[in-house]
Amino acid sequence: MTPYVADPVYLNGQFLPLAEARVSPLDRGFLYGDGVYEVIPVYSRRPFRMAEHLARLQATLAGIHLGNPLPLAEWQKIVERLVEQAPWDDQSIYLQVTRGADDKRDHAFPPASVPATVFAFASPLVTPSPAVRAAGVAAITVTDQRWARCDLKVISLLANVLARQQAVELGCAEALLIRDSYVKEGAASNVFVVKDGLLLAPPKTQLMLPGITYDVILELAAQHQQPLEVREIAEAELRTADEVWMTSSTKEVLAITTLDGKPVGNGKPGPLGVRMWQWYQDFKNTVMRKG
Ligand code: PDD
Repeated sequence: MTPYVADPVYLNGQFLPLAEARVSPLDRGFLYGDGVYEVIPVYSRRPFRMAEHLARLQATLAGIHLGNPLPLAEWQKIVERLVEQAPWDDQSIYLQVTRGADDKRDHAFPPASVPATVFAFASPLVTPSPAVRAAGVAAITVTDQRWARCDLKVISLLANVLARQQAVELGCAEALLIRDSYVKEGAASNVFVVKDGLLLAPPKTQLMLPGITYDVILELAAQHQQPLEVREIAEAELRTADEVWMTSSTKEVLAITTLDGKPVGNGKPGPLGVRMWQWYQDFKNTVMRKG
């Protein structure tokens, strides 16, 4: 059976088999969820938007007052080696940094002498199948119960986990998070809405993760003269939309065709979503798969 995690993984300066990788139970990632992460898609063994992912990692580290343990060139080398040694052409690279393990449990930061824990691994990238894309997926809406810094890609994801689990228990693929009557994003994706040919995207605020895929979608919309408004999207607009999409590094652009048990538009993936998916593939193929 194909493993989900490739050997070797990277842990604190070493490349080693997953089965040999060890982290202290006093690690602050384990005790407090005190850490950050990134997920970088790789197509034909080329990382997609790596500079942007590493810049977001840096921004999140700064946001939690944790120094970047590695220079940019070192991150790039780690990613390149993981990609090279994994058995798949299309991959998803996971990077995680935590505030390390002190010799005690204390909420306040450990002394500067405690090194960060750095962990990274490659998995196969499994994008939605043609059948899933043709049908679209079902989603639910839930109240956004996360903290007030959703722009930081931190590993403390309990509210996201609970929201996604609620969706899964109802046979749905995603939970869209509603805060103060506005939809912000999904549990692990950004959200876009189409109404009367106009593409709507929520603005980047501290209440939404600035998605790397989200940026690509905005660029593609501009490039193809697709009318676009970046502004808050009211829950009522979400419910009367012609199209709703979720976007992420692993889902790319995926139509949500059922919301809280009701059809979105005519219940089928809409034309703009289909076009955007194609633009996304064309863009990817142009920048990634060329020799
Ligand atoms: N999640 N919003 C949230 C809350 C996310 O967790 C993600 C991605 C996104 C989309 O970001 P990007 O386009 O950069 O992948 C938006 C990743 C894939 C994860 O947690 O596995």
